[in-house]
Amino acid sequence: MRANPALSVVIPTYNEAKNLPTLVERVRKSLRDVGHEIIIVDDNSPDGTGELAERLAKKYGNLKVVHRREKKGLASAVVDGLNHATAPVICVMDADLQHPPEKIPALFKEIENGADIAIASRYVAGGGTEEWGWGRKLISRGAELLARLTIPNIHGLKDPLSGFFMFKKEAVGGTELSPVGFKILLEILVKGAYRRVVEVPYVFKERLHGKSTLSFKEHINYLRHLSRLARASGEAGQFLKFCLVGLNGVGVNMGLLWALTEFVGLPYPVSAVFAIESSILSNFTLNELWTFRRRAGPGRSRRVLGFNLACAIGATLNFVVLVTLTELLGLPYLISNAFGIACATLWNYIMSATWVWGYAKV
Ligand code: GDD
Ligand code: MN
Repeated sequence: MRANPALSVVIPTYNEAKNLPTLVERVRKSLRDVGHEIIIVDDNSPDGTGELAERLAKKYGNLKVVHRREKKGLASAVVDGLNHATAPVICVMDADLQHPPEKIPALFKEIENGADIAIASRYVAGGGTEEWGWGRKLISRGAELLARLTIPNIHGLKDPLSGFFMFKKEAVGGTELSPVGFKILLEILVKGAYRRVVEVPYVFKERLHGKSTLSFKEHINYLRHLSRLARASGEAGQFLKFCLVGLNGVGVNMGLLWALTEFVGLPYPVSAVFAIESSILSNFTLNELWTFRRRAGPGRSRRVLGFNLACAIGATLNFVVLVTLTELLGLPYLISNAFGIACATLWNYIMSATWVWGYAKV
């Protein structure tokens, strides 16, 4: 083992015997000029990847193998690999050559230039995916959208779910990484103490040998993972506040409609106009002071207008869902309206958290 490597490359494997020799060769070649170690974490692959890795370890002094007794998932393999890494900088990548090893030096350069985390990204200019069907694209984009909605810290990043990334160990040192779900990067982004993140474009290749081993269970785990991260990052609490404010708005709307009609004697449609706008404004004020804690400050008139616009579209959405579900599916109109309200609330929240109040700070 070379003394003090500058970079540890952690590679989880499950049934990658066909890919491993090429992979190791290409990693070594692209890191000719960087002192590095390669850490393979194998889960007792039935195809003999573990034994093959041992042979490679005998051949190359800077390759270690971590053997685990059974298939325990990608994320936990990465976490185990990190615990064996000795370099100050870590690269995580897949073994199946979908992550081109030739990109490692570009990531390393970013770290040397001061980035704490460098992400190989499919979604910045110059990046992409090779020959993905629309189904896979849809799942990938859906997973990404969910992550964006639940976790505010990543709003600005294009590929927070990438499985190919590099980071300074000190940027995540001390954070407890949970080995559930397969999105370790997301966890690092939420919990890590880092300052600068950069994305480097790459093209996600087709798998040459074998097939994707991520099971349905991993997808469910992903959802659990997201909900835990949402709680950890405060986003869930923020959404709850938003809903409570909305509920209060319903009270304001109803109360004013009633009062203006009964006591002031306005015709009810006229009262409704005041009632609706008052509820929007009271929601705005509470969100400003509480949910998103943005007291006064510049841009308030833009936020008021933006919030009104978002709510107007939300109300339209509510109406369309109500009518569609009732007329087309024959649902009772009150049930349809509940769906409509849910859609509108989600819409209003997304617009509020991302657009009206900028990238929400909790
Ligand atoms: N040790 C171990 N244990 N390794 C595993 C396990 C496991 O249970 N499951 C998968 N791996 C290894 C595979 O051998 C491969 O090297 C890597 O983890 C990724 O697994 P794939 O099965 O190839 O995953 P994928 O191509 O569907 O997903 C990849 O791309 C996504 C981007 O769309 C992963 O990198 C994801 O993290 C990434 O988000
Ligand atoms: Mn793959």
